[in-house]
Amino acid sequence: MKKLILVAVALVASVTMNVAVAGDAAAGKAKSAACGGCHGFDGNSPIPMYPKLAGQNEAYIAKQVKDFKANTTRQNAIMLGMVAALSDEDAADIGAYFQAQTLKSAATFDESKIAAGRDIYKGGDMQKGIPACQACHGPKGAGTAGIGYPQLGGQYTEYTLAQLKAFKDGSRTNDDKMLMRSIVEKMSDDDLVAVANYIASLK
Ligand code: HEC
Ligand code: HEC
Repeated sequence: MKKLILVAVALVASVTMNVAVAGDAAAGKAKSAACGGCHGFDGNSPIPMYPKLAGQNEAYIAKQVKDFKANTTRQNAIMLGMVAALSDEDAADIGAYFQAQTLKSAATFDESKIAAGRDIYKGGDMQKGIPACQACHGPKGAGTAGIGYPQLGGQYTEYTLAQLKAFKDGSRTNDDKMLMRSIVEKMSDDDLVAVANYIASLK
């Protein structure tokens, strides 16, 4: 555990230096008009297959936009079309706008999975070598904005589970230093379901 914490601290230091742009939320509001149809105009997507962006940090949003645009390590046909015309500045502005919005909790979750999910999220699993999710994503799932670690809390169970599976089957590989892939490979499908439900319950 101590080793994992040291690794996390070292990564924090190396990632911080890459975060440069600071977006303009007012400009981002206008630029995000086309995003609202799916993600909600205030980032509170009404549909589980579209992730909520409200309160998500700018650095993470901007990185995902770049990754979708590059279409290599994170591929999605819908998002590829949406981000094709966005510059890095647009991505930062849109990110700043969504970060400033308030996340409304509307995600549903299976109450029977919460206890198992909480155990993993809060404490990991020493025997399987799974670190606690809260070390990077925060005790309430708010993420770590300064270094672009994503907010997770209150996200739709369906979306979170789909991403965990994508990291596990290797269809999403945009996690620097394999931070997420090295974790989910040690998790069972039941573990993924449990933790995704717990994450949806966080606020
Ligand atoms: C037609 C629906 C649609 C529209 C419009 C749309 N998106 Fe998306 N967006 C999606 C889907 C579907 C996903 C999930 C992709 C996946 O499974 O990886 C997504 C994912 C994302 C993510 C990743 C979120 C995360 O938590 O990792 C970001 C960031 C994003 N969209 C930003 C935008 C922006 C910015 C716009 C406007 C320029 C936009 N989207 C417009 C459907 C849409
Ligand atoms: C060492 C830090 C670290 C730990 C520990 C960690 N994560 Fe992550 N996680 C990240 C980073 C960084 C990303 C963003 C990767 C990228 O750039 O797309 C991420 C992305 C995610 C995403 C995708 C979010 C989205 O909106 O698409 C989910 C879901 C996730 N993590 C869940 C978990 C769970 C569940 C655990 C615990 C079992 C966990 N993470 C532990 C660093 C971590």
